[in-house]
Amino acid sequence: MSEPIRITRATVKKQKPKDSELSFGTVFTDHMFVMDFQEEKGWYDPRIEPYGPFPLDPAAAVLHYAQAVFDGLKAFRSRDGKVRLFRPQKHVERLLESSRRLCIPPLDPELALKSLVTLVGMEKDWVPATVGTSLYVRPTIIANEAFLGVRPAKSYIYYVILSPVGAYYPEGMNPVKILVVDKYVRAVEGGVGGAKTGVNYAASLYAAEEAKHSGFTQVLWLDGRERKYIDEVGTMNIMLKIGDEIITPPLSGTILAGVTRDSVLTLMREWGLRVSERPVTIDEVATAAHNGELAEVWGTGTAAVISPVGELSYKGERIVINGGRIGPLTQKLYDTIVGIQYGTAPDTRGWTVAV
Ligand code: COI
Repeated sequence: MSEPIRITRATVKKQKPKDSELSFGTVFTDHMFVMDFQEEKGWYDPRIEPYGPFPLDPAAAVLHYAQAVFDGLKAFRSRDGKVRLFRPQKHVERLLESSRRLCIPPLDPELALKSLVTLVGMEKDWVPATVGTSLYVRPTIIANEAFLGVRPAKSYIYYVILSPVGAYYPEGMNPVKILVVDKYVRAVEGGVGGAKTGVNYAASLYAAEEAKHSGFTQVLWLDGRERKYIDEVGTMNIMLKIGDEIITPPLSGTILAGVTRDSVLTLMREWGLRVSERPVTIDEVATAAHNGELAEVWGTGTAAVISPVGELSYKGERIVINGGRIGPLTQKLYDTIVGIQYGTAPDTRGWTVAV
């Protein structure tokens, strides 16, 4: 049995935004979950308290050496008013995997799951109802020991914050334009690309800004060694349909083990489609496009769920996919996942957890 969660309620409640006003990650709910770690005590004092800033020593390890991990999942409101988290156990598993890679002491997975369910349960009224909106859940662990030497810290804070959100990309489900970059890389073999840690996102900013200035929504990352194999698209996993084969790069350590990626692969295998987790080069993609075989390309991620790619630009060449329109498989995957998330389609795989 894990330690009980101590609850301190906010005395002043914030005004909730209208569903139509929601963007991504700008508004936060009234409460947050917090728990501390000290070497001598382990993880202790799980609590829910009013949302607010932490005191943080300027020497805190996270501020200097980025010892931190996070995850991101969502809670959805169905038409009958019920609130469900989508695959929270899988997100907890990944948070623990990321922690291991960053030398952060493991959370008790049962308590981590309880932190998500209890906090979302308390903040149920914040879960928006319109399809396309949800409550984004952000569990995070930071090293807060005040120490400037480089080694794993001896103290940490685990916290969970909640944000009612709308679409991640302003384009919504409209296909995005992507620049294939070969000048910068996001991750290298043996590095931390497979962990959900802030440094991967910091490392992505420069290339993403350059791409934006040239009129693209995001970048497509190639592998760090040969700059040949496709890795990820922006902050999402990438999938391509070439002929009747659906291809996504394998989990070789440089890409994140996306929960939406796993969900989509499961669905497509159940549907009997030919799905390959294998390396795929950008040249193979360009050749397939020239031969008229590149049918659909999409990204998968928690934030945007499914994001159709309408155009890839590589070495100055424009590769337009499906006439720049969303493809039938991309649409079917989106509809199926969203149906399960909002409770309009049956959840036969135990993916959702009611709160
Ligand atoms: C996702 O859920 O797709 C992401 O990784 C985006 C997140 C960093 C906001």
